[in-house]
Amino acid sequence: MIVYLNGEFLPLEQARVSPLDRGFLFGDGVYEVIPVYSGKPFRLIEHLERMERSMGRIGLANPHSIEQWSGLVEQMLVFTQHPDQCVYVQVTRGVAPRDHAFPSDAIPTVFMMSNPMRDLPVAWLENGAAAVSAVDDRWHNCDIKSTSLLGNVLARQKSAVAGAAETILFRDGVLTEASASNVLIVQDAVIVTPPKSNLALAGTTLEVVLELAARHGMPLEQRHATEAEVRGADEIWLTSATKEVLPVTLLDGRPVGTGKPGPVWKRMHAAFLAFRRQATGVGASA
Ligand code: PDD
Repeated sequence: MIVYLNGEFLPLEQARVSPLDRGFLFGDGVYEVIPVYSGKPFRLIEHLERMERSMGRIGLANPHSIEQWSGLVEQMLVFTQHPDQCVYVQVTRGVAPRDHAFPSDAIPTVFMMSNPMRDLPVAWLENGAAAVSAVDDRWHNCDIKSTSLLGNVLARQKSAVAGAAETILFRDGVLTEASASNVLIVQDAVIVTPPKSNLALAGTTLEVVLELAARHGMPLEQRHATEAEVRGADEIWLTSATKEVLPVTLLDGRPVGTGKPGPVWKRMHAAFLAFRRQATGVGASA
């Protein structure tokens, strides 16, 4: 496997990072997961722009322009055989003697790899996935796509232990997002998702869904949803670069709506696949 590290494409086994890297010591970095279908990155610029915003939020100068980043991602794809893959990009504040305060002269560490995209389990698309819920006890800067993911890791582990696909998070009784995805609900054919804020990541996949809802005249509200609303919803969806638009049909062991993927999800999922195929060519889940 060939990876990219600080200006070089090299075998994974030869890639070396200092233990003094601030990504290792402090989780002081940002990242992106960019899906690639038929060799074409999907929403590449949106991912790269979000990464630039994340860097801006943590006072880290972007080491590359968006054009340079695009070029690096394209070069990465030359080394990987799979048509459908996920490119992982990470930038940390670099190597410096351990001190919480920013070093004055560290050079950001840039790492990139690409893995084959795992097909979503067919059962998830046919019957929906299971999720559990948890209190969102993460920090208040969840709009930063930071490699400091302990809060998300602990949240995700709750669903992993329960054999479920995701952990849906509520802060003060209000829906925020899930451990590694955004969340939408449907009530009486109206799609509801939380407004953009510092309490959730501005998902690139969610953005596609918002655009498609507008384009297809599907009613959508960006507003807060209470835990009771989520539990009583007709449909619950998850969105992420790796899950696309996924129906949740079991929450904390109780059926969501009819307990089957709902009609609004079916329409949105079809619209999403059509849009993504048009943008990138036919992908693995075709
Ligand atoms: N996760 N919220 C969180 C906390 C996430 O980690 C993610 C993505 C999303 C969805 O964002 P997008 O649609 O841009 O992928 C929302 C990635 C896939 C990950 O960490 O692996």
